[in-house]
Amino acid sequence: MNKNESVVRLTNVTKTYFMGKVEVEALRGITIQIPVKRFNVIIGPSGSGKTTLLNLLGCIDFPSSGQMEVCGQEVARMNDKQASDFRAENIGFIFQNFNLVPVLSAYENVEYPLLLMKKPAAERKQLTLKMLDAVGLSKHQNHRPNELSGGQRQRVAIARALVKGPKLVLADEPTANLDSKTGKSIIDLMYAMQSENHTTFIFSSHDKQVMEYSEKVFEIRDGLLVKEKEN
Ligand SMILES: Nc1ncnc2c1ncn2[C@@H]1O[C@H](COP(=O)(O)OP(=O)(O)OP(=O)(O)O)[C@@H](O)[C@H]1O
Ligand SMILES: [Mg+2]
Repeated sequence: MNKNESVVRLTNVTKTYFMGKVEVEALRGITIQIPVKRFNVIIGPSGSGKTTLLNLLGCIDFPSSGQMEVCGQEVARMNDKQASDFRAENIGFIFQNFNLVPVLSAYENVEYPLLLMKKPAAERKQLTLKMLDAVGLSKHQNHRPNELSGGQRQRVAIARALVKGPKLVLADEPTANLDSKTGKSIIDLMYAMQSENHTTFIFSSHDKQVMEYSEKVFEIRDGLLVKEKEN
């Protein structure tokens, strides 16, 4: 993909949740193109649909209608097996609450996506150690999540998201549970990793620091894209 191409193309994407008889229209027709190899951020008030949108982009969930091309593939109507294969191959996730596996060490958490991809042991070890080093956690590789600080946990999550060299990294408010200094160090780290790995990042965030770094900002409100701005 060259730099002017899009990693994401959505046309008229809607998502309606059904809660019993109540319908919630979380996305009401999103048409958006997100460029490759960039720091992109999605902003919007609470309830505007940011998490819903990231979940669709990551094929964790599927749209009610519309077209979705992610990493060059039509993903809107994949079945669960196709979606999980697609995710394993193309997508890294970073979450607000880190979502590490509590019973696994930092090393095992980072290695996990490579196991899912059935990479051979020697390659898993080499990639895992390299990523732990890149996020500054070599000395903490045997710690479990509850033996790490919030910032360290998010570093493990970044290493886990990037270890397989995904085309797209989705980060849902990755600094929301961190103090501003730790948040800044996490953004610096993600920025450095983005440049080095040439992966496309899409964040959702309220954090001013994230917005300052981003090259492109998309604003959503009530399930609609209302503004797009290049920094
Ligand atoms: N699983 C669900 N079932 C029913 N409604 C949902 C579900 N998930 C989200 N919603 C609704 O969809 C709308 C969008 O929610 P979403 O979580 O995408 O917002 P958000 O922009 O991420 O908000 P926040 O900034 O608080 O994280 C909200 O009205 C929410 O209540
Ligand atoms: Mg959210």
